[in-house]
Amino acid sequence: MFKAILIEKQEANQRVGIQTLDDSQLPDGDVTVRVDCSTLNYKDALAITGKGPVVRNFPMVPGIDLAGTVEESSSADYQPGDRVLLNGWGVGETHWGGLAEKARLESRWLIPLPSAFSARQTMAIGTAGYTAMLAVMTLERQGVAPDQGDVLVTGANGGVGSYAIALLSRLGYRVIAATGRPQEAAYLRELGAQQIIDRGELSAPGRPLAKERWAGAIDSVGSHTLANVLAATRYGGTVAACGLAQGMDLPSSVAPFILRGVTLAGIDSVMKPYSERIEAWRRLGELLDPGQLDAITQTIGLDDAIKQAEELLKGKVRGRIVVSM
Ligand SMILES: NC(=O)c1ccc[n+]([C@@H]2O[C@H](COP(=O)([O-])OP(=O)(O)OC[C@H]3O[C@@H](n4cnc5c(N)ncnc54)[C@H](OP(=O)(O)O)[C@@H]3O)[C@@H](O)[C@H]2O)c1
Repeated sequence: MFKAILIEKQEANQRVGIQTLDDSQLPDGDVTVRVDCSTLNYKDALAITGKGPVVRNFPMVPGIDLAGTVEESSSADYQPGDRVLLNGWGVGETHWGGLAEKARLESRWLIPLPSAFSARQTMAIGTAGYTAMLAVMTLERQGVAPDQGDVLVTGANGGVGSYAIALLSRLGYRVIAATGRPQEAAYLRELGAQQIIDRGELSAPGRPLAKERWAGAIDSVGSHTLANVLAATRYGGTVAACGLAQGMDLPSSVAPFILRGVTLAGIDSVMKPYSERIEAWRRLGELLDPGQLDAITQTIGLDDAIKQAEELLKGKVRGRIVVSM
């Protein structure tokens, strides 16, 4: 038996609660993992509250990230006792996820727990930090270097935003943080932001082109914000887009692309191939200071995760939440 958050749906009504389930109810998979920690991402909060169409089949155990220890395996790649990490692959959306004491998974979705981190630290990073790393790697590949000018991070107090600031600043970039919570300025500066701007400057409908302000950007907000970020990106710059906290739409024009050679690079963490995941986690191990992880993170138990999911969607959570089993 194991405890899990279970989301059930009857007609239009979604119910969510903690339940004790039997191992025989676990889905198919070649590896069974005892979950040490999971985390609450924006997507998990949408799934738990039912405010976004994240869950594709019911009943569902949410949780797109987990770190744990292999209990049983019929895969040659993993043995009982191995420490493993999972991010994405539709887990917590189409396949039972990490907000549970146990999970059964496909071995191809797992990577070995990175040696630089404890299980708790990998969940403090979670999909948010791993996605921020993928976005930073994309800016690097596109040639956005620290000497080319400022880099903007939107959704600065969120999980992706917090890690994007920490990683960019560690790499020597001058980071501008856009936030709706200026009262958290000290936290953002501690992460490495050199300038803080009000997200209101970017969130209203804007012009197709604006004064060139940043060489690159990492945007987890979408909608008018992303349109305004593109409009103010300097000639030849790149914007890595990974989120939709303001909206799924992109009310932009082709002007930044055809008049300034700006690149809009999409970031998807969910289906990333194994080798790129390993590389992203290797870079995270190289760049993140474990002390900084503690500053970004609060730890809760499974019983508090449902309430915290609501707070997260209200924009009241700063940084990351680890759910410890
Ligand atoms: N592509 C991928 O693979 C991938 C992976 C991870 C996450 N994501 C997406 O990235 C986004 C951020 O994820 P997260 O885990 O960092 O979420 P989060 O912790 O909730 O952070 C989102 C942040 O966005 C800002 N924000 C919220 N509502 C806003 C609004 N209406 N207008 C402007 N800014 C707003 C807030 O920052 P301030 O308070 O500082 O303004 C908030 O802290 C989500 O849309 C998520 O689905 C995508």
